[in-house]
Amino acid sequence: MTLTGHILLADDEPAFQRLGSAWLKGLGHRVTLAGDGDAARAAFAADPADLVLLDLSMPPHHDPAAGLALVPTFAPAPVVVVTGHADHELALRAVEAGAWDFLAKPLDPDMLRVVVARALERARLAAELAALRAKAGAADDLGMVGTSPALRRLRDLVRRLAPTGLPVLVLGPSGTGKELVARALHAAGPRRDRPFVAVHCGAIPAELLESELFGHVKGSFTGAHADRPGLVETAHRGTLFLDEVGEMPAAMQVKLLRFLQDGSYQPVGGREPRTADARIVAATHRDLEAMVAEGTFREDLYYRLRGMVLRTPPLAERAEDVPVLATLFLRRALPGPARFTPSALAWLAERPWKGNVRELRAVVECAAALAAPGPDGTVTLGADDLDFAAGGGTLPDPVLDLAPGAPPAGRRTLDEEVEALERRLITKALAETGHNHTHTARLLGLSRMGLLKKLDRMGLR
Ligand SMILES: Nc1ncnc2c1ncn2[C@@H]1O[C@H](COP(=O)(O)OP(=O)(O)OP(=O)(O)O)[C@@H](O)[C@H]1O
Ligand SMILES: [Mg+2]
Repeated sequence: MTLTGHILLADDEPAFQRLGSAWLKGLGHRVTLAGDGDAARAAFAADPADLVLLDLSMPPHHDPAAGLALVPTFAPAPVVVVTGHADHELALRAVEAGAWDFLAKPLDPDMLRVVVARALERARLAAELAALRAKAGAADDLGMVGTSPALRRLRDLVRRLAPTGLPVLVLGPSGTGKELVARALHAAGPRRDRPFVAVHCGAIPAELLESELFGHVKGSFTGAHADRPGLVETAHRGTLFLDEVGEMPAAMQVKLLRFLQDGSYQPVGGREPRTADARIVAATHRDLEAMVAEGTFREDLYYRLRGMVLRTPPLAERAEDVPVLATLFLRRALPGPARFTPSALAWLAERPWKGNVRELRAVVECAAALAAPGPDGTVTLGADDLDFAAGGGTLPDPVLDLAPGAPPAGRRTLDEEVEALERRLITKALAETGHNHTHTARLLGLSRMGLLKKLDRMGLR
């Protein structure tokens, strides 16, 4: 038995609409027609289809880039793009942009039948998987692991806030799980099948941030060769995560405020205001209230963002989470059996964890990468292993141990000895930088690419 479904056919050519819908109806499908991108979006919003057949070149611009940008907005429905004959490059770009498959014009009825059947089958499987996940996820920890009262409370608040769509401001020191909270709010809410879009407001230069967020129209500045949708549009009906919102330049704060007030925004160089519906989650490690007091952050924006405030406490304030998280990271790092010795647990409990969960994770992963399994196949991590991984250990220098003229280190060849030394220096530097590849490379005097190659060779990635 073949699956039938509701198909949205978006194409501006009347002849193609007629033929395509006749064939599809003949196969038992229900068909909705749309003649341009906006109409397709509106039809989909009103009555979501199981599958979208999307012509990439439609009015008003006939610009494939604009067509490509539409692809993710139909999630979770699979999109099959329709390209001019033999435009393979465009078809590939569409698949990269998230399209499920492509068809070339002129349309062949057999190809259409096969591609549509496969896409509907995939939509059915995805729906089944989502249902299973939702069932399993009902009692789930939302990926936020920990047994401390503070973490239980945080999880409980995330569960209650997720379905509301209220803006949420996540405050807490670096490495405490702010992004994790943002993702959990998205994953536990009704927008989970739509995109989660993260923007790091501090990492993007001020001039680019506006066009990143709100998009730009063709010709609005040198290099703007085509219309480009902004991240707010990509996040339509999903979640927009504004990370490090405290770094947002003043000029952008006004524009963001407007978007938060009524969902409207203006692409750079555009005249017509547009709207998008994105749930806003913002995070910062800064003291926003102090920034408001000193005038570097707009008060009205601050109150808009803090529909609700969630705080991720420093790890030092929730000591009972430390062994739980350490065990989780160890299990994730190693496929086989692994454990901490009692002295390792004591070491974990004593450390101040200034870098919070991120630091804990880096230390455990580094120690796990260095450890060798015992005779029974179990990896046992002691306090020494953790101390070494945390960068506190002194490094025995195998090269200096060599007596002049002696064969290199007795049991090991020179290559092995060099490799072992290299591995130790790299893991130590990784732990010191919290696994930041750029910083590690700089510390070791390597290029980032050079470091990544070494990590791959040593299986440390
Ligand atoms: N409760 C938790 N359970 C499991 N993993 C966690 C938990 N809290 C944090 N982590 C992990 O610790 C790391 C840091 O978390 P995250 O990136 O969310 O922190 P952050 O507060 O956004 O940090 P920063 O301010 O530096 O951006 C991530 O790898 C995250 O998965
Ligand atoms: Mg973060």
